[in-house]
Amino acid sequence: MRRREVPTPVTALVNRQRWLDAAGETLGRGIQAALGQLGNRQQSVRNVLHGTWLGHPLHPLLVTVPLGAWTVTLVCDALGRRRLHTAADASLAAGLATAPFAALAGMADWTATDGTARRVGVAHALLNSLALLLYGSSWFARRAEARGLGQALGFAGFGVVLVSGYLGGELVYRHRIGVDHARDDDVPAEWVPVARADTLEDGKLVRAEAAGIPVLLVRQGETIYALGETCSHLGGPLAQGQLVDGSVVCPWHGSRFALADGRVLNGPATYPVPCLMTRVREGQVEVRAAFG
Ligand code: FES
Repeated sequence: MRRREVPTPVTALVNRQRWLDAAGETLGRGIQAALGQLGNRQQSVRNVLHGTWLGHPLHPLLVTVPLGAWTVTLVCDALGRRRLHTAADASLAAGLATAPFAALAGMADWTATDGTARRVGVAHALLNSLALLLYGSSWFARRAEARGLGQALGFAGFGVVLVSGYLGGELVYRHRIGVDHARDDDVPAEWVPVARADTLEDGKLVRAEAAGIPVLLVRQGETIYALGETCSHLGGPLAQGQLVDGSVVCPWHGSRFALADGRVLNGPATYPVPCLMTRVREGQVEVRAAFG
């Protein structure tokens, strides 16, 4: 079950902007069309953009580069010294050159969001596009020797980036996008009975509970696998997913986890799900954390 969202005033304001849904639909179609051009490399590219290969979301790492660069621009412009013009222009250009990479990673993450978070994500993307436009105009103004105008556009761009950054924070801290939703800490350290072994059909995904924690059980031949049942991406119910080549695919956004150890094979998830040890005692399947 999805977590009930209690909107902040800003989220509530964004939520009322229903036109964002139409913008989101257009954006989503554009991204899907672009990814569709990649054919069977699409999932690999998605994994790169999500940060699945890194075990950490990529977008928050990449955004630090243009933000840092544009902060340098801001400081240089604010100090108003002629000898800082070169540094201001170079850092502005560095931000312009690196922001698209952060945007690509963010858009990939956004495609796997729903509801209010999706709408906030559209507002975040539109504001970032506006900031990019302002900084691009600032760069052209500086090249045309209109430094005062260039600086004004740069200050405006930084203001827009701050508002957009607030929404980015809402996505992470309020809507928990990019946060690990699997409950690794709660996995029982001692053996706990979870199901009768003779109720597990070969190749069937079964949801059980271990000390109140949802657990996914899968029998494959003589082996019984147990993983945390909550998808680490946004908390999807893995027991309602699909079994594919020794892995389970989440029904919500298609993250794929290896049954053998819970590692992420395909994003949007970047964090693994907990893997539990199993044994059968007196006809009962028992599980415990795979450590300790
Ligand atoms: S909840 Fe998004 S992939 Fe599982």
